[in-house]
Amino acid sequence: RQPIIIDTDPGQDDAVALLLAAASPELELLGVTTVAGNVPLHLTTLNARKVLELAGRRDVPVCVGADRPLDVPLVTAEHVHGDTGLNGVNLPEPMLAVDPRHAVDFIIETLRAREAGTVTLCPLGPLTNIALALRRAPDIASRIKRIVLMGGGFFEGGNVTPAAEFNIYVDPQAAHEVFTSGVPITMAPLDVTHEVLTTAKRIDAIRALPNRVGAVVAAWMEFFERYDEEKYGQDGGPLHDPCVIAWLLQPGLFTSRDCNVRVETQSELTRGMTVIDWWAVTGLPANAQVLRHADADGFFALLTERLAQLP
Ligand code: BDR
Ligand code: CA
Repeated sequence: RQPIIIDTDPGQDDAVALLLAAASPELELLGVTTVAGNVPLHLTTLNARKVLELAGRRDVPVCVGADRPLDVPLVTAEHVHGDTGLNGVNLPEPMLAVDPRHAVDFIIETLRAREAGTVTLCPLGPLTNIALALRRAPDIASRIKRIVLMGGGFFEGGNVTPAAEFNIYVDPQAAHEVFTSGVPITMAPLDVTHEVLTTAKRIDAIRALPNRVGAVVAAWMEFFERYDEEKYGQDGGPLHDPCVIAWLLQPGLFTSRDCNVRVETQSELTRGMTVIDWWAVTGLPANAQVLRHADADGFFALLTERLAQLP
């Protein structure tokens, strides 16, 4: 089994990613670390606990991380996710307690305790916790197998400014430090996640599952897709974060290219832009595998089959 740590700011799409990971026997979910992003930290932490409880996974530690980006004020996205971050269905107060370890300590300790080159980090929100861990313990860089993250965009432009995707925009300095860390990176940018759309037919198939998770996920998707449906006039919204977990499970669902990627941290106009050298015009070495296209039907077949395994 592939050991992973998910760093997250749930978020309906983060929640679906957590469920997909929790339901997949190929993955060993070592822990979930929370970060401020879509909503403030106390809510992302509460939401992560609710989602693991829903999945029947009280065994997974939830560790609380950074409450703000490294050096800019927090920007949140209630206009997309609702005031709780997880609008669409009211889940009960979870029994699962918060782990006493700080997220950054948990990441460092876990990487040091496990055999080097085995643990994959899966950041689904701003990269603050990952950057803090790399700052505090530079030795972990060589111990991380790979960072598989949702963030950035190139062909599709941005979703929070014309240039920037939300996760990178919120903490551009953290993203810069991660992209220059030397750790192997796979990134799922908007270019690929905008192909993975929650159409009515796909949601119906999930709602029809004979478990509670099916109804909950369908309700989340219906709330979440409204923002993009109104904005882009399409059927369905993008299921960003689950692409990270789907790539771990079935990389063949995606096409990709190894590229040099740099993050803009200074410019007011293009803050948080991921400058992806898709055409290799700079001659700079590739530092990330950039996902480009997805087999969306294959993705939803996998997701639906796995969600069916949950309570
Ligand atoms: C990313 O931002 C958040 O709103 C989503 O959870 C996803 O991680 C998409 O830009
Ligand atoms: Ca997220």
